[in-house]
Amino acid sequence: MSQAPASSPAPAAYTPLRAGLHWLIAASVIGALATGLILGRPGYALLPLHMGLGLIAGLAGLARLWLRLRQGAPRSNRAAQAVHWLLALLPIVQMASGIALVALAGAVPAMVAGRVLTAQDFAALPPSGPHFGIGMAILLLASGHVAMALWHHVVRRDGLIARMLPRRGAGGATRA
Ligand code: HEM
Ligand code: HEM
Repeated sequence: MSQAPASSPAPAAYTPLRAGLHWLIAASVIGALATGLILGRPGYALLPLHMGLGLIAGLAGLARLWLRLRQGAPRSNRAAQAVHWLLALLPIVQMASGIALVALAGAVPAMVAGRVLTAQDFAALPPSGPHFGIGMAILLLASGHVAMALWHHVVRRDGLIARMLPRRGAGGATRA
């Protein structure tokens, strides 16, 4: 499933830029999920922070996707590859549905005018259901992904997490 050209073997590790983007996206996705799940209680005062984190996750996700298509990825089993593809694509789709929600609700002018939004501003809008559903899918997949990463680290002790740590010199020397 690697996108690297057939003639070039899969890289042995992620480049420092790929690894840095991974941790930036991981932190912003977790922040967006946490702020998203408590957004409505009591008002939507956390919405600007949620939007900022979601935009970072989606834009960094686009950069990561571009690098993934250009560089391929280190070898892993089919299930892991499928989860990685979903975790690479869903934050981008989620950013798009969040932007659609905010645009359709006229939320930015309302916030600039100092009004704190409520659930009523979004509940009836078409992207509301997908935004919740995709958010839950990301939560589920990311939980499984983190559990597998910890299992590799603690039980199998195979150094899997090490290939996602930024290391000097890993950039040009990542192809096996
Ligand atoms: C990976 C990025 C994102 C994740 C994981 C995420 C996750 C979530 C979650 C879990 C909720 C709660 C949904 C509910 O209770 O119905 C939510 C609500 C919301 N998010 Fe995001 N979000 C992301 C990006 C964005 C972006 C980029 C924007 C806008 C620029 C945005 C705007 C909103 C809005 C307006 C709501 C309230 C929707 C409602 O109450 O129906 N989100 N988000
Ligand atoms: C915070 C805990 C996390 C840990 C310990 C972790 C660990 C890892 C590790 C070790 C890999 C390399 C796996 C391999 O090469 O087979 C990886 C890849 C990946 N992770 Fe995570 N991860 C975490 C959070 C997340 C989150 C929240 C996301 C959601 C966006 C995510 C998305 C991905 C993706 C898309 C890849 C493939 C990378 C690529 O193709 O550039 N990770 N992760």
